[in-house]
Order: sequence, then structure tokens, then C-alpha cells
Amino acid sequence: TDKIRPLLAGNWKMNGTRASLDQIKAIAEGVKAPLSEKIDTLICPPATLLYVATALCDDSPLAIGAQDCHQLVSGAHTGDISAAMIADCFGTHVIVGHSERRRNHAEGDALVRAKAEAGLAAELTTIICIGETADERDQGQTLDVLKRQLAASTPDGAVSETTVIAYEPVWAIGTGKVPTSADVEEAHAFIRKELVARFGGDGEKFRLLYGGSVSGANAADLLAVANVNGVLVGGQSLKAVDFLAIYGAF
Ligand code: G3P
Repeated sequence: TDKIRPLLAGNWKMNGTRASLDQIKAIAEGVKAPLSEKIDTLICPPATLLYVATALCDDSPLAIGAQDCHQLVSGAHTGDISAAMIADCFGTHVIVGHSERRRNHAEGDALVRAKAEAGLAAELTTIICIGETADERDQGQTLDVLKRQLAASTPDGAVSETTVIAYEPVWAIGTGKVPTSADVEEAHAFIRKELVARFGGDGEKFRLLYGGSVSGANAADLLAVANVNGVLVGGQSLKAVDFLAIYGAF
């Protein structure tokens, strides 16, 4: 997995106003060469900032993406945005199946898969999130949950170039709790094995991100774990100084 190009991704969730564009600008300026030749960087601001944010990143390797998309291209779906609209704003990535969407909007694996298909059809790099809850972990079901979510949320047409899998234990999100390196290693090895079983050799090349309370203080340890090809960062992606501290850990 050493040859996989890492991805540092930030998910701003429902945070960020026009004033926050300064942070995107600072991140865009901060991720320049030489490190940017080796790793990809991404910020997913709220949809309201998407178009302006992409314009700010014209001269930067920083990519801009969205946090969700509808499964259809257009139509009578008040409040939703399509993958085609994200691409139209020069967004290049989309996150689907985040646990907050699964929980707050009752999104199941079949819908997440349809959204991932829409993302890929719009030529967006699509980040599919999976992860167990605290209860599921306590009951020893972690790998069963990962197996089910991965199988049912990932489209048959997924390829390593444009599909990214993010492992986010729900109990680690926004809590400051991070699984042990051994636990992350076990989960990522399992996801890798499942991808290889399904996609053959290409399964070796998918980027696997860890997400959940990543910070500048723990990023290097997480990135040292086998099959961790990057991180998906929430809270610590909002301020350029914090995000760039994680960038520096690569
Ligand atoms: O998608 C990233 C996110 O769920 C992790 O959030 O705040 O724990 O880094 P946070």
C-alpha cells in the first residue's frame, strides 16, 4: 500500500460562512509544493460555499468537494443537490454515506450506493463512509457491520482511481476518542481484504481513509498504520492552522 497516493480530506459539516473563505484561502496557500506533489488535499465546505471555494483554489492543488449528493441528476427534490451540480461548480469530490447522514436522514446502504453511483457518473471522486456505532463495537459486531456496509454501499462499478473508502467509527467522531492503532489496523486490513475479494487486484489500490477525532497530535500515528492511506478530518479541518498541522504530519 506504500505506493498509494494519500488523501487528506476535510469535512466542514454544517459549519462555515463567507467569512470562513479566508480559511480555505489559507489552506489553499498552505498545501503547495513540495509535499503537495506527494499527497492530495481536499476540503468539503457546505454547499453554499462550494462555487466560491473552487474559484479560490484555482492556483492551488487543494481540491474542493461536497458532503452529500442526491442520487438523481435533477428534478423535484426540494433542498437536494445533485452530483452534476457539484461538478458544475468545479467540485471534484463528494462524500456519501457519512454516519450523520445515515443517522439524521435515515440513509441506508442502498441509498448510499445510489448516491455513490451518481457521484461516479458525474466523474466525482466519491468517498464512501462506513463505520460501527459504540453499541455495535461493544457487541463485537464491528467487522460484520463494516462488511455489510462496504458490500452494500459500494457500487459494482467502483474503481480505485475514483472511489475512496472512509472508515469512521461513529463513537470516535467529534468525541476526542480514537481507536487504538491495533483496532484501526484490524479494521483497515479487513476492508482491504473485502475489496480485494470483490475487485481483485484493483482492490489493493483503493484509498482507505481513517476518520474520527483526527488532529495534528495523532495524525502521524494514524498514518503509520498499515492500509491507512489518508484521513478524513472534521473539527480540525475548519481552521487552516489545524488542518495544516495534519498536512505536516504526512
Ligand atoms: O467526516 C469527518 C468526521 O466525521 C470526523 O469528525 O470532528 O471527529 O474529526 P471529527
